[in-house]
Amino acid sequence: MRTQVAIIGAGPAGLLLGQLLHKHGIDNVILERQTGEYVLSRIRAGVIEKVCIDLIDEAGVGARMHQDGLIHDGVQICVDGVRHRISFKDLTGKSVMVYGQTEITKDLMDGRAAIGAPTVYAAYDVALHNIFGETPHVTYRADGKNHELQCDFIAGCDGFHGISRKSVPPNAITAHERVYPLGWLGVLSDTPPVSEELIYVHHPLGFALCSMRSPTRSRYYIQCSLAEDVEAWPDERFWEELKPRLDDEARERLVTGPSIEKSIAPLRSFVAEPMRFGRLFLAGDAAHIVPPTGAKGLNLAASDVRYLSHAFIEHYKEKSNAGLDRYSERALARVWKAERFSWWMTMLLHKISDNTFEQKMQLAELDYLFRSKAASTAFAENYVGLPY
Ligand code: FAD
Ligand code: PHB
Repeated sequence: MRTQVAIIGAGPAGLLLGQLLHKHGIDNVILERQTGEYVLSRIRAGVIEKVCIDLIDEAGVGARMHQDGLIHDGVQICVDGVRHRISFKDLTGKSVMVYGQTEITKDLMDGRAAIGAPTVYAAYDVALHNIFGETPHVTYRADGKNHELQCDFIAGCDGFHGISRKSVPPNAITAHERVYPLGWLGVLSDTPPVSEELIYVHHPLGFALCSMRSPTRSRYYIQCSLAEDVEAWPDERFWEELKPRLDDEARERLVTGPSIEKSIAPLRSFVAEPMRFGRLFLAGDAAHIVPPTGAKGLNLAASDVRYLSHAFIEHYKEKSNAGLDRYSERALARVWKAERFSWWMTMLLHKISDNTFEQKMQLAELDYLFRSKAASTAFAENYVGLPY
């Protein structure tokens, strides 16, 4: 089999890239390790920036997102039981949208099925060959047979644990990492959200987040230790941990119910540089991870895909490699700013240690954030997404 761009991974980055390339007549094949059902069962991002919305529109699959997505003009931060609102709209003129990653993935999968572009699910033992040569190819096993896919380029969109980044010689890549000593325990439930806007909670017991997927579906998170086992968290225990962290109004409005998903995500900051190795280009979580506090992971995957799809289009349509040559530098410039914001929000809102000096620093910074228009504006600019 031969294609122009072999895409590894059918997460949002791979599916979005495939759709955009196809729109411009560029052939691509996606190889995904899991089944489609499994990919759709992973509950992850909820908040998307304008960049992501625009790209989903450009890919031609935005109809359901515009119908069901919730526009949020601001966010709330609760400290010591008192809520403070930061208005994105007033401070930046922009908003974000709440529309689940699962729904985006479904829209992209349906879009791909409608155009008949090939995706191989349950593709095992994917291996990348000759990435620094003229004729790269990918081998894999599917339906009990061995396959070889020849291509011009490989797009590594296979997430943090994927094979693409690991296929690069160690001396060609530099990793920068910070692992936080905590995770997020998340619950999805078919209960109405406590508030119309997201509430990020700073509390002596630890961080909490009240988010949502729709007016009838809530998503809550609480900070937990990395040693926690999700099995040790029956629903009742989760709600009892969440309640004392909320302000009075949110606690009164909280409707508890059975969870329809419950999982623990470790918090990590990670960037691998560069993002291009010969004919292999990394995009999304394959190249970088942010802790979820700033809601930036999926949005960064989308901005990588924007740069990369334009670069491939330039290569095939205008016979120019300028975009491909600049891809890594341009993508990383945006990645590092989102890394900074996600790290800063994580350090500001979580109970990282019992050190009272650090806790006082957090409270002083939060007070400054609420009182200073300059500080609130900086927060809002980063949350809605920095320009290209
Ligand atoms: P992935 O979604 O990880 O997709 C990679 C795909 O590659 C997977 O389908 C995987 O099965 C496949 N794969 C892996 N290895 C191989 C292999 N060897 N061969 C073939 N296929 C392979 N981001 C936001 O922007 N906003 C938010 O509000 C937000 N909230 C989050 C909340 C939580 C709890 C978590 C965990 C994450 C959150 N994120 C958020 C981050 C976001 O979910 C990720 O950044 C996003 O999924 C990255 O997309 P991706 O396509 O790069 O990688
Ligand atoms: C979510 O709704 O899953 C969500 C929202 C905001 C975040 C992280 C996750 O910062």
